[in-house]
Amino acid sequence: MAGLWPAICFVPRGCFATSFVPLYYNQFAVHTIKAIYPGSFDPVTNGHLDLIARGSKLFDHLVVAILQNASKSPLFSEAERIEMLTEGVRQFGNVSVATFNGLLVDFAREQHAEAVIRGVRAISDYEYELQMALMNRRLAPELETIFLMSDAKYSFVSSRLVKQVFELGGSVEGLVPPFVIERMKARRSS
Ligand code: PNS
Repeated sequence: MAGLWPAICFVPRGCFATSFVPLYYNQFAVHTIKAIYPGSFDPVTNGHLDLIARGSKLFDHLVVAILQNASKSPLFSEAERIEMLTEGVRQFGNVSVATFNGLLVDFAREQHAEAVIRGVRAISDYEYELQMALMNRRLAPELETIFLMSDAKYSFVSSRLVKQVFELGGSVEGLVPPFVIERMKARRSS
């Protein structure tokens, strides 16, 4: 459709043909919906990737947004988390990775996103997630939060537990992608 614009612009204003142009153009003006999936992703788990797969099917574009400068001191730097997530979302054509600072609602507005997705694993997650969703709604009523459930096999998986189990010598195979395990091993031996 973009190719039609020059032709449209050269039709004199008030001309009979121009009366039909907006109607014709509107037929092709597709509304696409962008969503944000925010988090710390320290590191990305298979539960996160499962949620990303679900989000990528629901929305036209999904931005996985890593919170910078989170108060908790992360295991992986921001650059490492970007690299791991970029690797993880490579298989999806409509998913990108970004970082943000400050309020999530401000980032969502900058991105022209209409929805935020968050994973809810258990009732214990729900209370915190509901608080955040309602606070975000107060700050940005136009932004909808959508809770998604990952596959039940990831319902107990969290970045925090993965780090703890790995640190204590347990296996985290199947819980995080192989490239994350490699990075964790490299971190341990350095
Ligand atoms: O993976 P996490 O650590 O559970 O993600 C939490 C996150 C990043 C979604 C949340 O801390 C957040 O949105 N922080 C941005 C600051 C903000 O907008 N706070 C007000 C909303 S409660």
